Amino acid sequence: MGLILSGVQPTGNLHLGNYLGAIKNWVKLQNEHECLFMLADLHAITVHQDPAELRENVLKVAALYVACGIDPKKSVIFNQSRVSGHAELAWVLGCNTPLGWLNRMTQFKDKSGNDREKAGLGLYAYPVLMAADILLYNATHVPVGDDQKQHLELARDIAGAFNRNFKTEFFTIPEPLIQKTGARVMSLTDYTSKMSKSDPSEYSRINLTDDNDIIRNKAKKAKTDSIAEVTYEPEARPDVANLINLISVLTEKTPQAVAAELAGKKSSDLKTMLADSLIAVVEPVRTKYLELMNDRIMLMKILDEGAAKAGRIAGANFSKVKEIVGFI
Ligand code: TRP
Repeated sequence: MGLILSGVQPTGNLHLGNYLGAIKNWVKLQNEHECLFMLADLHAITVHQDPAELRENVLKVAALYVACGIDPKKSVIFNQSRVSGHAELAWVLGCNTPLGWLNRMTQFKDKSGNDREKAGLGLYAYPVLMAADILLYNATHVPVGDDQKQHLELARDIAGAFNRNFKTEFFTIPEPLIQKTGARVMSLTDYTSKMSKSDPSEYSRINLTDDNDIIRNKAKKAKTDSIAEVTYEPEARPDVANLINLISVLTEKTPQAVAAELAGKKSSDLKTMLADSLIAVVEPVRTKYLELMNDRIMLMKILDEGAAKAGRIAGANFSKVKEIVGFI
């Protein structure tokens, strides 16, 4: 593996799904590979953001990255808008992307809703910017969740198109790094949907900033069924199995081992175990996060240094792109 790049949009709080499904894996990757972890603020403004809120969210997510274990000494943590090459390369790549490819993107279809005439160009061009994020560093591997697989596939196609159009092999075709299915964290109130920041119910998710009382309360309200005794039967009792699966991911035990501990117990015991396992994972992250949010100077320093490092790699690559394209 060469260079790894990934990122999230700094909108709203990060939740447990982001941590267990993505960031926890990034923490492992940084020990063996060169990694860049981005705060995609350019992507965030594809839907209107309040400027003060955006600023705060970038700092919050940067703090959460570090609190989750991303080490700024090992990995490059930066916000996308600080490195001008992202937007510049997106333009060049856009000139090599057929509309037909963009028209197939399911996320645009979902996000633009019924009135497509009103959707912004940014929302439509979003996947081209994401391709630029990756290709600007010639990243070889990109950890992504299911929802971003199609965008990564497009990034590969765009890299191929550019290479063909300019008879070059400059861009590396990036490979996806797909997470193990075990880390797919589902909603606490609906076992069929992924834990998500866009779910209207706060009870569906655990935010990494939730305090212990909130966590206990959410665990108490998590969906079970009307059978008193706890058993692990994913087909027949999917709500109970969902909570056991979550405990299993949190404690790194098998669902069967968790179920064995709960044999003969009641759903209130299941919820207590859920709360305890959640707190064991979230509390240390939250504590570190609060510490960092109280030290803005330190946070800004991390982002300054990250932008400088990312800018060096991006600058060298983008100069080559300009040369290939014929810019003076
Ligand atoms: N689009 C991604 C998301 O919403 C975030 C993102 C932006 C990203 N650029 C990226 C992820 C490049 C991986 C690689 O989750």
